[in-house]
Amino acid sequence: MADFAIRPALPADGAFLADMVVEAANWRAGSTRPRPTVLADPVYRGHIAGWQRPADRGVVAFDGDGRPVGAAWYRLFAFDAPARGFVATGVPELIIGVLPLWRAQGVGRALMRSLTDVARAAGFARIALSVEHGNFAHQLYRSEGFIVVASADGRDTMVRLLA
Ligand SMILES: CC(C)(COP(=O)(O)OP(=O)(O)OC[C@H]1O[C@@H](n2cnc3c(N)ncnc32)[C@H](O)[C@@H]1OP(=O)(O)O)[C@@H](O)C(=O)NCCC(=O)NCCS
Repeated sequence: MADFAIRPALPADGAFLADMVVEAANWRAGSTRPRPTVLADPVYRGHIAGWQRPADRGVVAFDGDGRPVGAAWYRLFAFDAPARGFVATGVPELIIGVLPLWRAQGVGRALMRSLTDVARAAGFARIALSVEHGNFAHQLYRSEGFIVVASADGRDTMVRLLA
């Protein structure tokens, strides 16, 4: 078992969360979209712009030296925001990323569980996400109770009930 622990995300984690957005955008093997290109995309930028807003919540996995190795977080989007996993007003959308060296060691699942606990404690009844077809993260989400509620443009919107 990898040696990591999980803490709440803080305002100072913005740069690391941006790193994880870049990882999420480059999930496909061989994909190397440069950081400035990813962060110029309004959909990706929307996950971190102005971090940390009052309703934003996240969790960060860190190694034995306290260095962040992965993060998952959510925020609320307006219906007309350039987001992809929008389900309804008041349903937060999550995004997750783990550093390549730390993948397939249980960090992603631990982050998902911790974040859904945070969302439930904050009073949300559902949480949503968007995942591209072919991303193995789909299996992770399904095994954590997310179901597909919409499918378009090569992506699935998935929702988990928290109540
Ligand atoms: C997706 C991601 C967050 C998962 O985190 P992780 O720490 O690698 O995942 P875990 O080790 O907790 O594995 C959870 C499940 O994912 C699946 N999985 C993990 N690595 C896998 C791999 N290399 N191939 C296929 N499935 C894999 C398995 O179903 C695994 O379940 P198991 O533990 O029962 O085997 C991480 O791999 C990542 O950052 N990928 C790139 C960014 C990305 O795709 N973000 C999501 C965008 S929607």
